[in-house]
Amino acid sequence: MTALEKHLDERDLARSLRADVREGLTGTPKRLPPKWFYDARGSLLFEDITRLPEYYPTRTERAILEANADRIAGITDAKTLVELGSGSSEKTRLLLDAMLRRGTLGAFVPLDVSESALLSAVASLTDAYPGLSITGVVGDLTRHLRHLPDGDNRVVAFLGGTIGNLVPDERAAFLGDLRAALHPGEWLLLGADQVKDPGVLVPAYDDAAGITAEFNRNVLHVINRELRADFDPLAFAHVARWDPDHEWIEMRLRSTRDQQVHIRDLNLTVPFTTGEELRTEISAKFRRAGLTAELAASGFALRHWWTDPRDWFGVALAQAV
Ligand code: AVJ
Repeated sequence: MTALEKHLDERDLARSLRADVREGLTGTPKRLPPKWFYDARGSLLFEDITRLPEYYPTRTERAILEANADRIAGITDAKTLVELGSGSSEKTRLLLDAMLRRGTLGAFVPLDVSESALLSAVASLTDAYPGLSITGVVGDLTRHLRHLPDGDNRVVAFLGGTIGNLVPDERAAFLGDLRAALHPGEWLLLGADQVKDPGVLVPAYDDAAGITAEFNRNVLHVINRELRADFDPLAFAHVARWDPDHEWIEMRLRSTRDQQVHIRDLNLTVPFTTGEELRTEISAKFRRAGLTAELAASGFALRHWWTDPRDWFGVALAQAV
């Protein structure tokens, strides 16, 4: 049984891209939200990133989930697994398999902004799990959590460390919305990358093969195509920096010359000076104590915290109170 619920369509997405680009490129300092990296090419580049030797988060989180999926299923007795920003379904399958072994699971609800990504994930999972009810939700996890299908004993998985793309205020808003969408006793399974040596962190976002640089510049290709702009992506250098005060990685694009970019659909000309930087992403890193406090402030009690032997990545299991 498969269904799709749409809270976003192409026009909503086009409208929010236009608003984000206008706001982000006319402000100081210039910035763009990371969600616009992920067109078809950007999603493939991200898949490539997850296989890079320097990019440890994906494989580290996968190992933690492999080791603990049956415990997660046993502790939660999940009847419904909700996955936010579902992307590739590899880690999802670990959880689905464990929850089906446990015998409690009946439904899977993936939520993603990309209808095409969602449709292909749903199609492959429908084949692999014929008995499961699957409802894809096309939505933005910062706007549409209130529309999550109701259920009982839901486990909401938000994996990969994507919570790190949100600044603290946005995280509080997100966790508050999520808590409001859940009943007491329901669960959040949250993957969070941890603070560590910048000598490990920075190469993960500035790999030797240059894949992350290409991923970073992909947002300029997206704007060129969607808004008829004339960015020369090669006139922007990839920058990844550790910010020790905020404890986040910042990705930027640095203009290598004085230049003007025309964005036809916005009727906008954007000047860049040599060396000027455009912030394209933050990827915040966490400490167990800080994350526990953020969860508690939003009505979630941390019940379990699993890590890898190097203590690089954390998977939190928290319960709505
Ligand atoms: C998909 C948001 C978890 O922050 O590590 C990878 C995105 N950016 N390399 C991350 C990303 C640069 C990734 N998340």
